[in-house]
Amino acid sequence: MGRLYFVMFYAYILTLLSQEIPIAAYMLTSSQSIIDGKTLVSKGASFELGFFSPPSSKHRYFGIWYKPVSVQTVVWVANRDSPITDTSGALKIGSTGNIVVVNQNDSVVIWSSKSTSSNIAVENLIIELLDSGNLVLRDVRIEDPEKYLWQSFDYPGDTLLPGMKLGWKSKTGMNNYMQSWRNSDDPSLGDYTFGIELTEYPESVILTNKSIKYYRSGPWNGLQFSGAPDMSRNRVFHYELVHNPDEVYYIYKVTDPSVTLRVVLTQTSTEGHLQRFTWVNQTQSWLLLVSIPRDRCDDYALCGAYSTCEVMTEPVCQCLKGFKPKSPQDWNETDWSQGCKRETFLNCSQGEGFLKYTGVKLPDTTGTRVNRSMDLEECGVNCLKNCSCVAYSSSDISGSGSGCVMWFTDLIDIRQMDGAGEDLYIRMAASELGLGLLFLLMQLKLITPLHN
Ligand SMILES: *[C@@H]1O[C@H](CO)[C@@H](O)[C@H](O)[C@H]1NC(C)=O
Ligand SMILES: *[C@@H]1O[C@H](CO)[C@@H](O)[C@H](O)[C@H]1NC(C)=O
Ligand SMILES: *[C@@H]1O[C@H](CO)[C@@H](O)[C@H](O)[C@H]1NC(C)=O
Ligand SMILES: *[C@@H]1O[C@H](CO)[C@@H](O)[C@H](O)[C@H]1NC(C)=O
Ligand SMILES: *[C@@H]1O[C@H](CO)[C@@H](O)[C@H](O)[C@H]1NC(C)=O
Ligand SMILES: *[C@@H]1O[C@H](CO)[C@@H](O)[C@H](O)[C@H]1NC(C)=O
Ligand SMILES: *[C@@H]1O[C@H](CO)[C@@H](O)[C@H](O)[C@H]1NC(C)=O
Repeated sequence: MGRLYFVMFYAYILTLLSQEIPIAAYMLTSSQSIIDGKTLVSKGASFELGFFSPPSSKHRYFGIWYKPVSVQTVVWVANRDSPITDTSGALKIGSTGNIVVVNQNDSVVIWSSKSTSSNIAVENLIIELLDSGNLVLRDVRIEDPEKYLWQSFDYPGDTLLPGMKLGWKSKTGMNNYMQSWRNSDDPSLGDYTFGIELTEYPESVILTNKSIKYYRSGPWNGLQFSGAPDMSRNRVFHYELVHNPDEVYYIYKVTDPSVTLRVVLTQTSTEGHLQRFTWVNQTQSWLLLVSIPRDRCDDYALCGAYSTCEVMTEPVCQCLKGFKPKSPQDWNETDWSQGCKRETFLNCSQGEGFLKYTGVKLPDTTGTRVNRSMDLEECGVNCLKNCSCVAYSSSDISGSGSGCVMWFTDLIDIRQMDGAGEDLYIRMAASELGLGLLFLLMQLKLITPLHN
């Protein structure tokens, strides 16, 4: 009898233990692995992970793709730059407490996560694929996202999923950015990256080779990026740029759970594009909603400094009022890259003021200074006081507008926005302001030229 009780007690304890640490099908313990040919599906069956080959490739990569989408669409790849050439790959928790992709034949580690789980026993670690598409490494007993040891959302590939943060953590200096695949058959690191440029007035940028600006969205003005109205909110899509002392990041949400959206940075032989797609169930295909750069005026600095780009005019580049081409011949031959220079140079003398431009994408924010508690009027006064200040604007146009941003370098990459954009005040010599006024009055037909 006593022995039976003991057995029952023992079985009870075992049940308790297994209840305490339930290992579900969407998790992987330190003693399990995913071999090529096997997959793991997230709890709500939104995403699946395993080994795959791109359409016309024989290489094997470990990745994550949508489970319900009939066209295999990979959103994240582990071993981007180190494909496996046979089907001997496996993913597991390595002895150092990292997620590793290994080649089973020779136990070579092909790829490893960079987690710092030094104090945690490897047997307590699990890998879990969340329904957001996030692959996480955590202690089996701790579900708090703040305590994840590693997560794929911190290492975006070419795809930004809803809820991923793109940008900077100031404490660690970590910067998350997207990087294109070399082409649709090769997930290795491509030429284009998309991320947040950390200036006092942050904006998002597409770079080539990680350093050369290719496209900029314009700064975040409290409502949207100054030059990217297409990226704005709508019924199902909501994005924002969050900036606080700890972080500066771009994030988007999809408010309708039946809608599948993805933002992907693509690369062709000559171009890079940031594209937003939605999955259409009827046609079983992805529908392209937005693709940037959209037109020539989105090409970074096409018109050089102190000029504006307008798609509907010929030529597209025009010097700002009171400025003339730096190199008239190049300008004439549609090479606008030299930009424009002032007709009358500034010398910080009395009478200098500002010309107001409306509906523009604000210029490159490198070197700008922002004061979020200064109003627009004070902003102008303070800009005028500093001889190197060349322009100013509201830093936040939500509500009735607030904050102050000032420019101290040449004004680059301004474009005219159609039904969007904002106000920019550019510093001019007194004489130019007089002419500007005359010009304005003439346009308004309040005065007529003498020869008329
Ligand atoms: C690895 O193992 C697989 C099957 O187990 C085999 O087909 C393949 O040829 C092996 N590759 C190497 C490089 O040994
Ligand atoms: C990036 O750099 C490489 C090597 O210098 C060059 O071949 C390639 O054209 C560059 N890509 C772009 C998009 O400029
Ligand atoms: C998608 O379309 C199929 C028919 O083409 C239908 O059976 C299925 O219910 C639809 N799924 C959703 C989520 O609308
Ligand atoms: C610009 O080109 C036109 C002809 O296309 C020519 O008449 C004019 O002189 C040129 N101006 C300059 C500054 O090169
Ligand atoms: C500053 O510029 C104005 C107009 O451009 C000119 O009249 C004035 O003499 C200049 N002052 C100095 C100190 O150079
Ligand atoms: C920002 O502007 C406010 C209001 O004019 C001023 O009191 C404050 O000193 C400014 N802050 C900085 C850092 O200049
Ligand atoms: C003008 O502004 C620049 C940039 O903020 C600053 O470095 C410089 O000290 C300012 N000059 C004056 C006279 O305040």
